[in-house]
Amino acid sequence: MLSLKTDVASLAFYGLLLLPLLYVLRKYTTSSPSQPSATENSNELTGSKEEEKPKTIMSAANTSLQPPKDDEFTPERLKDYDGSQPGKPIYVAIKGTIFDVTAKVEMYGPGKSYNIFAGKDGSRGLGMSSLKPEDAVPDYSTLDENDMKVLDDWHSFFSKRYNIVGRVVDPNLSEAVRNMNNLQLKS
Ligand code: HEM
Repeated sequence: MLSLKTDVASLAFYGLLLLPLLYVLRKYTTSSPSQPSATENSNELTGSKEEEKPKTIMSAANTSLQPPKDDEFTPERLKDYDGSQPGKPIYVAIKGTIFDVTAKVEMYGPGKSYNIFAGKDGSRGLGMSSLKPEDAVPDYSTLDENDMKVLDDWHSFFSKRYNIVGRVVDPNLSEAVRNMNNLQLKS
């Protein structure tokens, strides 16, 4: 009888000790997901009027883009726009679409991180997330499904930020890639 009482007492004692631990565990296991959806916006819960900022380190989209141009550029002509000629715009081509990235000379200018993509179509390297010169080529038909998706995401990223100044006409590209580029233009 006495031992039963002691057991109940020690159970209650240890149970009380466990309570704070359970509280902490619950707090950390039921916190909100890292990417809240529109309906799970924490502002709705708190009633805060503050705008939820998008969780990205990428620059914001450009809201005043010009209508896209359809000028034709050979790879040779496109090379003039690699940032090496002072006063000339800087162009980057993705899947044959040429974007004017002059506003980001600090990234695409000579000697800068992404100059490898300037004055050319370096689609394969963009898809592979590679900055190697040998990968910055226009033929992206070698990419696997995941890298193809990465490349498409870059095309969409650039489309929202930079003016389209034309398209690459490259007779040396395989017909398959030229067809894919044309499809991209129409989408
Ligand atoms: C340690 C690795 C890297 C870091 C820390 C990094 C960092 C960044 C940051 C912060 C931006 C945003 C710039 C902005 O939007 O203002 C950016 C943009 C970009 N990154 Fe990287 N990056 C890395 C590797 C790469 C690699 C391997 C590639 C190759 C494809 C790449 C290609 C790009 C491109 C094309 C942009 C878009 C620049 C623009 O026009 O705004 N990055 N990077």
